[in-house]
Amino acid sequence: MRKIHVIGIGAGDPEQLTLQAVRALGSTDVFFILDKGEVKSDLTQLRRDMLDAHIPQGSYRVVEARDPERDRSAGGAAYSPAVGDWRSARAGIYERLIAEELGEGETGAFLVWGDPALYDSTLGILEEVLAKGAVDFEYDVVPGISSVSALVARHRTGLNRVARPVQITTGRRLAEGFPDGVDDVVVMLDAHQVFRQYADQDIDIYWGAYIGTPDEILASGPISEAAPRIEQLRAEARERKGWIMDTYLLRRNPKKPQEPQEPHEPQEPQAPKVQ
Ligand SMILES: C[S@@+](CC[C@H](N)C(=O)[O-])C[C@H]1O[C@@H](n2cnc3c(N)ncnc32)[C@H](O)[C@@H]1O
Repeated sequence: MRKIHVIGIGAGDPEQLTLQAVRALGSTDVFFILDKGEVKSDLTQLRRDMLDAHIPQGSYRVVEARDPERDRSAGGAAYSPAVGDWRSARAGIYERLIAEELGEGETGAFLVWGDPALYDSTLGILEEVLAKGAVDFEYDVVPGISSVSALVARHRTGLNRVARPVQITTGRRLAEGFPDGVDDVVVMLDAHQVFRQYADQDIDIYWGAYIGTPDEILASGPISEAAPRIEQLRAEARERKGWIMDTYLLRRNPKKPQEPQEPHEPQEPQAPKVQ
């Protein structure tokens, strides 16, 4: 039976590769690397550097394939047909890679940016390939340090406030309104700096671009003050590198006193006092 590791490799810092990930790299015969085109070749190179750093050359093969282009103009915040088409195209490529490049009894791996569980389609696509039934394999998942964990670590803050929820969403969703029932919101995949929409509210932003890489940029503060700074940093970086990946945490009413922490364990009922 063919095996596949889906390995989370962290969001840019090679030192955020976990020991479990390194062990999985070492037990892989074929690495599948999907190239997103010239502008993101740095990300492909980072994956290759990780392989060079952790496994002896000659002990593995690398198979590169071109990622299908995605029509980002189509659809709203919801799952759109364009996303469906793109996933099917990707599923076709994965199926071919596994069937043609991975021998029976061999182990392949997909190196997934950050954590495979967060805004990544690899797991869904592998399930789609299995469902089509043309090729059979088993797969496991190695968690990675996500850009969200890396962001809050660099800003030395938590994701949630005491006993409060936190939501992770996309720029498109945030454009529809601040989510109900939460004051702490992480935003990914925002090409339009939607945080500017909330500059008149009492919200702090913790922003980071290229987190964990030598190009990392961080900025934070009330949105009203930080937004123009972030806009400028973002525009300069985008001009310099040709692409950008950034993530941010919005914290509404940052100065509001925190509610008392709920106990983690249910309290034992107090024994009645003996007089
Ligand atoms: C398709 S999602 C992949 C998320 C990834 N699976 C993770 O766990 O971080 C891509 C988005 O992740 C965020 N991202 C990934 N790496 C990042 C980094 N090094 N710095 C800032 N944001 C990053 C950006 O919001 C980007 O638009």
